[in-house]
Amino acid sequence: MIRSSNKMGTRSVWAGEDKLFSEGSHTTPIFSTVTFAYEDLDAWHESAKGDREGHIYSRNTNPTIAVLEEKIRSLENAEAATSFSSGMAAISNTLFALLKPGDRVVSVKDTYGGTSKLFLEFLPKFGINVTLCDTTDADQIEKEIQKGCNLVYLESPTNPTLKIIDLARICAASKLTGAVTVVDNTFASPINQNPITLGADLVIHSATKYIGGHSDTLCGLVCGSKELVREIFLFREINGASLHPQTAYDVIRGMKTLELRVLRQNKNALQIARFLENHNAVATVYYPGLESNEGHKIAKKQMRGFGGVLSFELKGGYESVKTVLHNLTFVHLAASLGSVSTLAGPPRTTSHVELTEKQREQLAISESLIRYSTGIENTEDLIEDLEAALKLVSE
Ligand SMILES: Cc1ncc(COP(=O)(O)O)c(C=O)c1O
Repeated sequence: MIRSSNKMGTRSVWAGEDKLFSEGSHTTPIFSTVTFAYEDLDAWHESAKGDREGHIYSRNTNPTIAVLEEKIRSLENAEAATSFSSGMAAISNTLFALLKPGDRVVSVKDTYGGTSKLFLEFLPKFGINVTLCDTTDADQIEKEIQKGCNLVYLESPTNPTLKIIDLARICAASKLTGAVTVVDNTFASPINQNPITLGADLVIHSATKYIGGHSDTLCGLVCGSKELVREIFLFREINGASLHPQTAYDVIRGMKTLELRVLRQNKNALQIARFLENHNAVATVYYPGLESNEGHKIAKKQMRGFGGVLSFELKGGYESVKTVLHNLTFVHLAASLGSVSTLAGPPRTTSHVELTEKQREQLAISESLIRYSTGIENTEDLIEDLEAALKLVSE
């Protein structure tokens, strides 16, 4: 019998894994099966109706996937959780399950590129109105919420300039209007921030990032009240964006080290941000852990650590960006973040390539910007690496 714990490291390891599966397997078995057989037709019928515990078909539920869902439910202090084949599947299923024509969404301009596309292109096609506010203008967000809306969608810290939204303040405003508040917690991970504790109704993760942690699997997770999660689950059952049990196993394995990884990544990012802030080749550093960052005070209030991603702008233009990135050694030049190994790239040509130059300008995504997602390497190696590459573009 495994005791429950309020410590994140213990929960990352044990949550959802308190029951022994067949043969006493120490790890959660991969139930690689589409369907589940019953010897008794009445038992099958009861399971199908939900009157009895039991799995029927893996597009709906599966024992390996149930363990993963319980783990994230526990880490996010939620009543329930469900899973998806990718982060974008989690986001789009949540929006399409909860919204209908004529509804209104209030969100911010800095959401992840794919989410932005849903707001700007796909939801309007279904007669859903979307208002995107300036991400750090809490007064404007509150005013738009007060005009009446059905869903408030937030992300904090944001990609790639790590802007911070006062989650408790906006969730409270949203509650007053009866809107559902959804927070994409991908950048923070549950180790650094728990939006439900701050008043959010639903939390979404691209588990492709920190939760899985090794950049080897795509996965999405949604946590919240039993009622809301059930509504989203029922849509996903039919929409079919379900997770494969093998992937669930990979994510479960990754999650066992979630706290260890994120604590190291927090430390790496903070020390690197401090180093870059004092470097003469660097114009601006975006990291909420820096005292000089405009979101620092709010971040300190709502986060336990500031995350492993930072962005910085070089004084030189795109040629300097190329020189620095081509000369880093402990890094893969690639999209994505939250991996055990460091990833870096220019948002202009990766995550925000689909925006126009003007849209990028509005989001402070210049051609001199580099996004740097620290891995779990030793801090000194990463700083030495950056120091050597930056020397090539220093004045
Ligand atoms: C904040 C955020 N949310 C959602 C997504 C989408 O996740 P996925 O790539 O797993 O579909 C991403 C991907 O980069 C992201 O950064």
